[in-house]
Amino acid sequence: MASVISDIRAQFPALNERVYGKKLVYFDNAATSQRLKAVTDLQSKLSVTANANIHRAVHSLSSKATEVYESAREAAAGFISAPGRENVVITSGTTSAINTVAHGFARAILKKGDKVLISEAEHHSNIVSWQLACDMSGAKISVIPVEESGELSLSRVESMLDCNVKILAVAHVSNVLGIENPIAEIISLAHSRNVPVLIDGAQGIVHKQVNVRALDCDFYAFSTHKLYGPTGVGILYGKKEWLDKLPPMLGGGDMVETVTFSKTTFAPVPLKFEAGTPNFLSAAAMTPALEFAAEIRKNKEVIAHESALMEKMEFCLGQIPGLHLAGACSDSRIPLYSFSIDGIHPEDAAQILDKMGVAVRSGLMCAEPIVKKYSEKGLTRVSLLPYNTEEEIDIFADALSKTIKMLS
Ligand SMILES: Cc1ncc(COP(=O)(O)O)c(C=O)c1O
Repeated sequence: MASVISDIRAQFPALNERVYGKKLVYFDNAATSQRLKAVTDLQSKLSVTANANIHRAVHSLSSKATEVYESAREAAAGFISAPGRENVVITSGTTSAINTVAHGFARAILKKGDKVLISEAEHHSNIVSWQLACDMSGAKISVIPVEESGELSLSRVESMLDCNVKILAVAHVSNVLGIENPIAEIISLAHSRNVPVLIDGAQGIVHKQVNVRALDCDFYAFSTHKLYGPTGVGILYGKKEWLDKLPPMLGGGDMVETVTFSKTTFAPVPLKFEAGTPNFLSAAAMTPALEFAAEIRKNKEVIAHESALMEKMEFCLGQIPGLHLAGACSDSRIPLYSFSIDGIHPEDAAQILDKMGVAVRSGLMCAEPIVKKYSEKGLTRVSLLPYNTEEEIDIFADALSKTIKMLS
């Protein structure tokens, strides 16, 4: 293993865990990545040195908490090349980010006869939040089918962008297919029809450099727990004009300018969308995770290592008789593979793999429609990060063939 990878692994103490006495092989990174030691260290430190409510009091501890929270917002803005802090709403995750936009659209934009365009390969966060918005507003969801290869075809997107579409909401990378959608082209197509675009970046941001200004997306959402960082924290990037236009989803402290019993005026963005006491210490601890992610994605050895992992994983999966991969292998894939195996239930396989120390995801993966397109019983998913190794793929491949023998 290259020394840069050993150095990276050393920063993730959880990778040394043992499961049923076996060395942990953690291949469920797309659900939640392991957390960088610098993140947990900072969380513990701030819990003692900066534990006071943000934005409110004048005392020093509160100022310190506010400072670390706001500097994390700046770090997030820098990470995605957002124009400024006012474009970055700190949320509890991708789900709350998408719900914030969907709710705002339901109240301010959508009406009967309007359409919300999503793809067939969306996570429930990017389906159900829009169903709720449609229930509130009378709009309807329209679904762009995905090709058998897992690709989202631009001509299909184009054909469905009619004048009733009021927003297009699509994943950067599906959490089931692992294939990057051509989001830059989708955004420019949608904009040519005056349709704003929300990108669900929960998976994409982990493996792809994102520049929201270059992409020109209207909204981009992601969670930090998939990106080496804290749980319960996410980012909603929004163009200022949209964030100004949309009403807040939650009302409460800190999101207001003035409150009377007859009328409330809201604080300027982004605080308008951050009602109540946020998960401020965890949010503050996203900074080292974002710095780490930005650093390793520039490292040539890490890039080469990731390609080697993918090549090996694709080879191993290709050797297993009766294994069907959801979506084709291509240059636009991230190291995420969902598959079915003839005659094997994915939950049974995942349970046996766990007994051998290998953590994989199984079932419907919060994306029931696209999973069921490939297998009614659900799928098994392996998802890797640069801290994973080729040796771990060998352990997984061996464990999977033993599992298949046991279940056949
Ligand atoms: C594509 C996609 N969207 C949304 C989510 C929801 O993220 P969270 O649970 O962090 O809100 C996930 C999580 O797996 C995801 O993969």
